[in-house]
Order: sequence, then structure tokens, then C-alpha cells
Amino acid sequence: MPEKDKKQGTNISRRNFLKGVGTGTVAATVAPSVLIGSEKAAEAQAGDAIANATIELNINGKSYQVEVEARTTLLTVLRDGIDTGGNNIDLTGAKLICDRGECGGCTVMVDGKSVYACMMLAIDAQGKQITTVEGLADGDDLHPVQEAFIQHDALMCGFCTPGFIVSSAALLNENANPTMEEIKVGLSGNTCRCGTYPFIFDAVKTASRKV
Ligand code: FES
Ligand code: FES
Repeated sequence: MPEKDKKQGTNISRRNFLKGVGTGTVAATVAPSVLIGSEKAAEAQAGDAIANATIELNINGKSYQVEVEARTTLLTVLRDGIDTGGNNIDLTGAKLICDRGECGGCTVMVDGKSVYACMMLAIDAQGKQITTVEGLADGDDLHPVQEAFIQHDALMCGFCTPGFIVSSAALLNENANPTMEEIKVGLSGNTCRCGTYPFIFDAVKTASRKV
């Protein structure tokens, strides 16, 4: 290989290599939106822009120090994070289901508003109050939404339930007396594959009378 080409070769970053070769070979068969996502994931895997940092998060009123990469999501920290003291955070109420902001199974509250934890970077959650479903009850006293879900039997398999409960609590934070239509719109970011929607909506209406 000529010296010039060799030099150019060594100057190709892994990032550009992935952009030029990786996307070119699959472009004919993969939809553009998928391509963009896969390119970003490939770049992250290649190590570009990955840096470790120790951050402090306030979760359910307790402070945790955790080491994260720039790409680490809040959901990963909640479910699989280990604090700097070696303790598992182990808040597994928020579920990893779609991992792409579509199902609401990972919903938590950040400063009182519902957020998909799979779509928020942990570093962006610093300095904010994070509340998971585990943090809604006050000791043995369940949150009114939790009580209403039990009263209305608003679950079947229960996998979506933590996300729905947190979204419902956040909805009632913003609107303590929503109409049925406002409840449906407010919970439209959550999906229940068992189809328990009518019971969930009734439960939120009941909870609104107690909040
Ligand atoms: S797992 Fe986050 S929205 Fe589905
Ligand atoms: S209760 Fe099964 S997905 Fe909602």
C-alpha cells in the first residue's frame, strides 16, 4: 500500500469506519430510522464519547453515588446500578420492556413529572428528585393510586402496572380532578397488553377523589 494511503488508513477513526462501511452494507435492506439508531448504537459500542463519571442521584428521597458511562440510562442505574459503597440499587419496579420510549413500562417521576427512564441519561437526572413506584407509598400506607388499582382489580399479568401507577400519580399531581377523557390522554404513553384499560381508568378516577 502506498505510504500516502497507509497514512490515510491510520487516520480513519472507528467512528468514520462504522459510518462508511457499517451503514453502507446494510442500507439496501434497513429502514432509515432503524439505520440511524443502529449507527448511534454502533458508535457507542465503538467507544466514542464514552467516559466514566461518578454522579449523585436522589432516588425516593435517598442519595446514591454511582459510577456511570455517558450513555448509561436512568433505568439501567435504577435496576442494575451499584453505588460506590458496593450496594445494589435494585429498584426493579420500573420495567425494561421496549427500551425505546414506546411502552411506558419504565415510567418514573422526575421532579413530579412522568418520564421514560429508558430514554433519560443518568447524568441528566442529577440534581432532580427521582421517584419510582417503590417510593410512592408512605411506609405501610399505599398511595391512593395504588389503593385504587387494588380496589378496581386494575391488572392482569401486572407487568405494565408499575408504569401505569407512576404515570397516574404524576397525572394527578398536575390535575387532581381529571375527566375520563383527560385520564385517557394522560395515560396514552403507557401500554397494557392485557387490555385492562377500563379498570385502570376507573381506578384513576377513584384515586382522584382521594388525592
Ligand atoms: S421500556 Fe421505556 S418506554 Fe418501554
Ligand atoms: S396487566 Fe398485563 S400488560 Fe398490563
